[in-house]
Amino acid sequence: MNFDEIIERRDTHSLKWDMMEPLFGVPKSSGISMWVADMDFRPPEAATDALEAMLRNGIFGYYGDERGYREAIVWWMANRHDWLIEPDWVFSTHGLVNGMALAVDTFTKPGDGIVLFTPVYHAFAKIIEAAHRRVIECPLSLKNGRYEFDFSVYGQWVQENAKMAILCSPHNPGGRVWTRDELRDVHNFCQRHDLILVSDEIHHDLVMPGHQHVVMPLAAPEAMDRLVMLTATTKTFNLAGAHIGNVIIADERLRSTFAQRMNALGISPNSFGMFLAESVYSLEGAEWVDALMQYLDHNRRLFDARMNQISGVHSMSLEATYLAWVGFHDMKLSDEEIRQKINGQAQVAVNYGSTFGMGGQGFHRFNIATPRSVLEDALGRLEQAFDVC
Ligand SMILES: Cc1ncc(COP(=O)(O)O)c(C=O)c1O
Repeated sequence: MNFDEIIERRDTHSLKWDMMEPLFGVPKSSGISMWVADMDFRPPEAATDALEAMLRNGIFGYYGDERGYREAIVWWMANRHDWLIEPDWVFSTHGLVNGMALAVDTFTKPGDGIVLFTPVYHAFAKIIEAAHRRVIECPLSLKNGRYEFDFSVYGQWVQENAKMAILCSPHNPGGRVWTRDELRDVHNFCQRHDLILVSDEIHHDLVMPGHQHVVMPLAAPEAMDRLVMLTATTKTFNLAGAHIGNVIIADERLRSTFAQRMNALGISPNSFGMFLAESVYSLEGAEWVDALMQYLDHNRRLFDARMNQISGVHSMSLEATYLAWVGFHDMKLSDEEIRQKINGQAQVAVNYGSTFGMGGQGFHRFNIATPRSVLEDALGRLEQAFDVC
């Protein structure tokens, strides 16, 4: 594992690098891409070995016999997250946005309200609105530079037709690792309003040294009869193109309703994703993630130290994820003027905070999962754009 290696991603159909020009106007030839959440690192060798074995065999037929795959997930959740699950609690979907869309489709109907704690990963609102459900925005509050829930005010927005809440844990953007107490509060809120709780824990392995992610079922064991858990190998091991995710449902009633919907939509596994996922849920994969998080911890310290030197800029201290959430509010410039500096002058492509819902205005999200030399190049450009030398 060499996270310093520069791997050319332009002209490889990379969403991150090949779309930065059409989407953000940042030139592909000279720009640096720090938007969408995929990393510029190779996955563990186990993943490439698994693909090579498929290639040697040379036949790419339907995937069958999921026992090994399910056991690998059971092993990972037990060994890395202390959560004991049964193999038949797991559904594999075509990624987690797909898993979430299926949960929305299965457990709510058009017109129903779905609570989001904003700002939050923009795809949540996108699928909810596309499915003709209603987003109920419950804004997180900013206290001492970090996000917290404020359940004293959320109740007023939750009307009768609210049926679901979607939690992002750890939080994207903002990088919070929610505490047990906070997770219990989320569950109590869902219980009070009788909401299905979807806990998207795709970032569960990407936790900075010194922090500990707690899976929702451990924080609130009594949540099981309303809980839909979403996890994946793809964010952890940089396999997003494999489009595979786990929907884990312990409750038998919820599980059979979900299974019926999966059947009705004819969803069956993509063998490339299955082989890749099984290969990385291993001791080798665990060692790789530990090394990755050391590297990312160093990147985040470097990023924060230099960005926070720029007057009026506040980079939130990440407890998890590699997505730095940076506030430019104190600069007294409009979002448009900030974008001109970041995209236009520095030629760095980033996500715009306003796309993450209420509370996102004035922020920009920077993906720091890139070789250190690329990060340093980007920081130098940003410092120049904001006149710091
Ligand atoms: C919270 C969260 N959920 C889901 C996804 C995407 O999942 P997938 O690529 O499996 O659809 C992301 C990607 O950044 C994410 O941050």
